[in-house]
Amino acid sequence: MSNIIISPSILSADFANLEKEINAVKDAGAKWIHVDVMDGHFVPNITIGVPVVKSLRKVTDLILDTHLMIENPEKYIEPFAKAGADILTFHYEACRDGNHIKEVIEQIKAFGIKAGISIKPKTSPEVIFPYLSLLDLVLVMTVEPGFGGQEFMHDCAMKIPVIKAQCNESLVIQVDGGINNLTGKICTSLGASSLVAGSYIYNSNNYKKAVDSLKS
Ligand code: DX5
Ligand code: ZN
Repeated sequence: MSNIIISPSILSADFANLEKEINAVKDAGAKWIHVDVMDGHFVPNITIGVPVVKSLRKVTDLILDTHLMIENPEKYIEPFAKAGADILTFHYEACRDGNHIKEVIEQIKAFGIKAGISIKPKTSPEVIFPYLSLLDLVLVMTVEPGFGGQEFMHDCAMKIPVIKAQCNESLVIQVDGGINNLTGKICTSLGASSLVAGSYIYNSNNYKKAVDSLKS
């Protein structure tokens, strides 16, 4: 087994039974849980927010890998950090300029948690180079953010080696969108160290088999 970090996205889980769904992927070997926060503005969908993270924190010790697909991320860092998020990843496209980006990263780190930045499919990887040394994680979207169950965009995966060539070993390069056993392997062979998977895991009838197939 490799050291690839698998982060099952609860977007495809049964929201009426989140504790059970999280424990099921924990039993399957997952160490992280990917929490997709959408505001209906940055993306055309609304999902969950601070109260859900707070409730999940009470029932799991897994890393809460929180993906903020929201405008004005700076307004929500403190509530999500206090709710118990371990990683806060915000979007490059939600920021005005470089100062804004640096401020959001510093804000996240001030809570002693990990900071990530994400880029949408049409955003070139070079734009995040100035911030790589400040970050713990970069999330390369391989679908347009907003919905689970979309098809993997192969072109986006080519951003992985471009980022990898610029960063140090400790930076987590994560991919999100359309990940399954085949597309996951493409990404890890290109240098990704973490795979987010929603529908591939939660729509399968054997979570352990699905998680193992992503790790191998
Ligand atoms: C999409 C979300 C993803 C989503 C992935 O905007 O950020 O995390 O849950 O779903 P799958 O793995 O089904 O593409
Ligand atoms: Zn996500």
